[in-house]
Amino acid sequence: MNNDLQERENWTSKLGFILAAAGSAVGLGNIWRFPYVTGENGGAAFLLIYLIAIILIGYPVMVAEMSLGRKTEKNPVGAFKNLAPDTPWWLVGALGVFTGFVILSYYSVIAGWSMAYIVQAANGFTSEMDFAGLFGGHISSVGEPLLWHATFMGITIGIISAGVVKGIQKAVKILMPILFILLVALVFRSVSLEGAGEGLAFYLAPDFSQLTWYSLNEAIAQAFFTLSLGMGAMITYGSYLSKDDNISDSAGYVLGLDTLIAVLSGFAIFPAVFALGLSPDAGPGLTFITLPAVFAEMPLGTLFGFLFFVLLTIAAITSAISLLEVVVAYMVDEHEWERKKAAQVVGIVIFLVGIPPLLGYSALSDFQFLGMDILDTYDWFANAIFLPLGGLLTAIFAGYVWGARNTADEANKAEGVLSVGNLFGVLIKYVVPVAIGTIMVVGIWQTLAG
Ligand code: TRP
Repeated sequence: MNNDLQERENWTSKLGFILAAAGSAVGLGNIWRFPYVTGENGGAAFLLIYLIAIILIGYPVMVAEMSLGRKTEKNPVGAFKNLAPDTPWWLVGALGVFTGFVILSYYSVIAGWSMAYIVQAANGFTSEMDFAGLFGGHISSVGEPLLWHATFMGITIGIISAGVVKGIQKAVKILMPILFILLVALVFRSVSLEGAGEGLAFYLAPDFSQLTWYSLNEAIAQAFFTLSLGMGAMITYGSYLSKDDNISDSAGYVLGLDTLIAVLSGFAIFPAVFALGLSPDAGPGLTFITLPAVFAEMPLGTLFGFLFFVLLTIAAITSAISLLEVVVAYMVDEHEWERKKAAQVVGIVIFLVGIPPLLGYSALSDFQFLGMDILDTYDWFANAIFLPLGGLLTAIFAGYVWGARNTADEANKAEGVLSVGNLFGVLIKYVVPVAIGTIMVVGIWQTLAG
């Protein structure tokens, strides 16, 4: 099939685009990662600097990515080629496509754990269970995690094969409202538990003595990951956006929805964790070890535990499709592959790339990189290097090469409530590059120094 003869698909409504982009943004990053990172960094004070990072760094980068995509109607590689032909800038797009590959491969493994826990929850969480043992046992087995990883990639491939409107847009229109309702139900359950107050205080009353320089780092890295920035996901989604949409507004909605869901996840988790006398700084195990212990103790815990892991899985699906879409759009645009074939071939390769991190808790547990297992190693490269580097170069490109003015004009093209202007120029040209450059150096140095 010759793609040149095909009209590029467009989201059929403003809402379709916002939900798709919000679906990309809202994921494991909000429900699994945000609460544990906040829990490890002292709660409320971290929440505050995270919100500042979202607005000052996340918003301008998101506007830049969406504008680049809509202007060029291309995948990340094509977008840079289009605006800066015969220069090496296309490599930034290529880094993005590569990063999508890496992130989805381990993202799917974690989403697989979440699916396994839907079944686990349905069988009931009871007080006498050893939840650390249960989780350790699951991830260090091979057959089950492999089956769920394959199932999750299968779902993701299925949706992307169906296309932008019939696949992505349809899926998010069904899944995002369900996600929201489930989350609100969990928040009500959590804050109405006896002893919830202490968790609310941890989450809402800032104690700045808990913050370190590293927290700043974590806040910015979290902002990038949760908003799906730094690898061209928003370039790709923006490329299907109609010229009648105002990007300054749309980015605002996506940012607002993503932040709302993250903040609500905190309200679902911290009150419950404190009500049961558990600690909020359990790290990545917060979702899979601490929460099941919470569900085991609370009234209707099995039902809410089941709903929680359904919620987590839904959030992961709507994010995973955006990661796969970046690579598929690249194959379709640049190599003229047919969409279905691209989704299947790329999806299977990503599944395979995910096998080493999956085996990092069993057959490959001897492998260590700077003290990290394979999954953490993939995650570290993505979050400490690839995403910030991609975001930094995208900001420089939008600010200086394409130009802050041109970027803003594209964003403001249609009538809207918000419109980006001079402040956007200052943020994209100076604040974003300096902030990201600093956290990259600090982050890499911290990790190397152990
Ligand atoms: N934002 C998603 C989350 O919070 C993950 C994700 C999807 C992502 N697409 C991305 C992260 C692109 C970085 C880049 O779970």
